[in-house]
Amino acid sequence: MSKILITSALPYVNGVPHLGHMVGCLLPSDVYARFMRMMGHEVLYIAGTDEHGTPSEVGAAKEGMSVEAYCDKYHARHRQTYSDFELSFDCFGRTSSEQNKELVYHIFDRLDENGFIEERTIKQLYSVDDERFLPDRYVTGTCPYCGYEKARGDQCENCTKVLEPTELINARSTISGSTNLEVRETKHLFLKLPLIEEKLAAWVKSKEPFWPDMAYSIAQKWLKEGLQERCITRDLKWGFPVNKPGFEGKVFYVWFDAPIGYMGITKQWADEKPGERSWKDWWLDAKDVRYVEFMGKDNVPFHSISFPATLLGTGENWTMVDYLKAMSYLTFEGGKFSKSEKRGIFAEDAVREFPADYWRYWLMSNIPEASDSSFTFDSFAGVVNKDLNGVLGNFVSRVLKMTASKIGSEVPAGGEMTTLEKDLTNSLQEKTNNYLKYMEEMEFRKALNELRAIWVEGNNYISVAEPWTVIKENPERAAAILRTCINLIRIFAVFSAPVMPDVAEKMLAKLGLKPEDMPSLKNFDVLKEIEFLKPGHKFEIGETLFERIGPEKIDELKQKYGSEK
Ligand code: 2FM
Ligand code: ZN
Repeated sequence: MSKILITSALPYVNGVPHLGHMVGCLLPSDVYARFMRMMGHEVLYIAGTDEHGTPSEVGAAKEGMSVEAYCDKYHARHRQTYSDFELSFDCFGRTSSEQNKELVYHIFDRLDENGFIEERTIKQLYSVDDERFLPDRYVTGTCPYCGYEKARGDQCENCTKVLEPTELINARSTISGSTNLEVRETKHLFLKLPLIEEKLAAWVKSKEPFWPDMAYSIAQKWLKEGLQERCITRDLKWGFPVNKPGFEGKVFYVWFDAPIGYMGITKQWADEKPGERSWKDWWLDAKDVRYVEFMGKDNVPFHSISFPATLLGTGENWTMVDYLKAMSYLTFEGGKFSKSEKRGIFAEDAVREFPADYWRYWLMSNIPEASDSSFTFDSFAGVVNKDLNGVLGNFVSRVLKMTASKIGSEVPAGGEMTTLEKDLTNSLQEKTNNYLKYMEEMEFRKALNELRAIWVEGNNYISVAEPWTVIKENPERAAAILRTCINLIRIFAVFSAPVMPDVAEKMLAKLGLKPEDMPSLKNFDVLKEIEFLKPGHKFEIGETLFERIGPEKIDELKQKYGSEK
């Protein structure tokens, strides 16, 4: 057993997550955390809301609330949505916590002592009418690269170019719309990335055999272009005040404190049970920790360059990422998700329409691993109807109903394994090994293909074995077939658990079992497990596992969530 530290990129607190956010980091990190726990590892799975920066200030102003109250409100909303989606965080914290502040100050002080911080006077846009500087999203204007008229001061949403507020054409204040802007001088702190570059490049190089190509090549591209000093402070009120004389009234930049939030949130978790938990066991001089990060590909530069450089610059022995799983994007019916244009289905609406496991299964089967993937309601309904209802659900109800009506509501006695069952177990063992390997390697699409193939194997077996015919001539043989099938239900539940925890629990409940009765997935032996439930073990048919999604419902969803636009 080893210690596995898992983090999901921390979603911005403002706004609500859509399916793209779910599949980009939150859901796959949960599936992996659940899987690794079932493999017998000690797992610590951390996420939380990313609360600082201009989006929270702007959002709070729009809703007429204090930023603190605004963050409380949206943090609670995120928390509820993720709980509805069955995300199994050990701690879901906040980057604005006292624990994070303490760590941000500690790390900044080490960087400063080690000579990696530089003071610089820079030119920033100042709004005369608003009487303040306008960092990042406080400025809106026309993108100098693509001409998009609503580009923000930090990035153009249209062409994704990272921008400086002063680059925008026809710049105006996001707060008041005022164009009465001046360029004024202001003093800021910069992280001297060029001084850490050599050490960082050696560290990145050491990851080449382990990181997936997408993450490694993004990091290499940045290193090749040469690193620039990076401004880590802002003229804002909301954030951690800079703890250095001469910088009163300024705060740390959100991207400086957000990744430190992974440690801050772990400290929040440890502080809940002092004496029992230690955050340092996971983060500082920690032994035997394998650290896996999940994120959308736009986050890779921060996690492969600036955050590791920050940690290296402290001269301390921080846990650094061993495997960086980056995802491409999910589109909605070929276009972008957009809250303002009411286009796309958001996570909290999704779980009101269908159980979380329907979404979890579709998203994991179609995860944008190698390239973008597209969500469509037709595909969603097709997968639910075919894979979940048609293959898995049908197998479970058919087996239990047939056994109950022909023999009784318990695992039947009599008969023994024939070559048909031996072939079945051999084939299942091969697919099981593939499934476990792909899950361990975080090759989720391949893993989900194997999972589906395992369920199909059950359907094929029952079709060939024909217990409904055999029972007339040879009831003992029919008993052996149905006993095998009931054991398959348990095996299917165990394998489905990381992806569909609620369905797995329902399947086990039909067999009188609880989630804690599940065997370890490590060295899973199909031959042994196929005989786990013995004759006489009671079961109940219970409710059906999945509902079909009909054409009227698909039309209704398309209307409601704007896919016709
Ligand atoms: O892109 C985002 O949603 C960021 N809030 C991710 C931050 S990840 C970490 F650094 F906190
Ligand atoms: Zn642009």
